[in-house]
Amino acid sequence: VVNNRRILPFSNASLTQVCGALIKGDLVALPTETVYGLAANALDPHATRKIFDIKGRPLIDPLIVHVASTESVDALAYANPLFEQLAKHFWPGPLTLVLKKKECVPDLITAGNDTVALRCPKHPLFQSVLQHCKLPLAAPSANPFGYISPTRAEHVDRMFDKRLQYILDGGPCEHGVESTILDVSNSDSPTILRPGPITREILETFLQQPIKVRTHTAPTNTTESQLAPGSLEKHYSPHTPTYLLQEGEWLAHTFQENSALILFKHPHTKHLPQNCETFWLSESGTTHEAAQNLYHLLHTLDEKNYSALFIEKTPNTGLGQTLNDRIQRAAAKSKH
Ligand code: TXA
Ligand code: MG
Repeated sequence: VVNNRRILPFSNASLTQVCGALIKGDLVALPTETVYGLAANALDPHATRKIFDIKGRPLIDPLIVHVASTESVDALAYANPLFEQLAKHFWPGPLTLVLKKKECVPDLITAGNDTVALRCPKHPLFQSVLQHCKLPLAAPSANPFGYISPTRAEHVDRMFDKRLQYILDGGPCEHGVESTILDVSNSDSPTILRPGPITREILETFLQQPIKVRTHTAPTNTTESQLAPGSLEKHYSPHTPTYLLQEGEWLAHTFQENSALILFKHPHTKHLPQNCETFWLSESGTTHEAAQNLYHLLHTLDEKNYSALFIEKTPNTGLGQTLNDRIQRAAAKSKH
């Protein structure tokens, strides 16, 4: 542990430390190309249980299992030709694929479902860990349940304080939003369960067929016996009250004292609104850059004492749909 900190820069020594902890059944935070994950041995229910405890995550919300390559899938799930085709093209990368699970996958991972979500991450540090420890790793985003996902090691450090032994530092995440989840367990009807960096358009162009998108949203309370995975309306939310603005709505909006406004792109005007500090997700107006900055900006602003955060929706095409999904959830009001 360098300077008494738990944030480890990558080295052979830190790789050994991190893998040692995982093999022992402990948790470590690891960088991926989407967001930072909180990893544990997926085949050890005792280790996996710690993830739910530290995150405050309901046991009915299943976890993604991370593997080093397609070869590791056969031991865990029943692959099919649609899966093979997608994995060959998009792995390693930000596409999680849901398949029928095999017996050895603990119920805790799948929340009792007969399917398992599998992802082969592209980040070189996560890949090194997978190859070195030779375990499938369960890894949800490394944030307390319902809060903003981390895209930098410092975010994880701040959220979990002393409760986490190791955080492997892989720098800022390339994509900045969680992987796309595609259910391919029924190869006749591939369905997007969570939008992500691999957009519906990209998948439809690749497969040359229409892809369904699950639109059903579960209620905010988690008492239902079977939660539609990843569909909690309020998720990725700052503590500061957060409100959604339609594109351009800020121009005519009256802001409350001491609020922060997050625009999609540089407004190129001297007439910024009163009562608030204005920020933007992208200098140039690209959705890729906006995605890289979204969670970092939310983390940063939530640390300050703003009375409210206002976020403008992004153009609703391609990756913009993913951004709007996250922005909408960040701004969803809690139900009591
Ligand atoms: O980019 C990512 O996917 C990140 C990084 C760390 O890999 N992980 C991530 O995990 O976002 P998490 O736990 O925050 O979100 C996983 C989502 C959950 O909403 C869960 O409900 C869904 O995946 N999921 C897991 N297993 C599933 C299954 N068998 N069927 C459907 N959805 C599933
Ligand atoms: Mg999450």
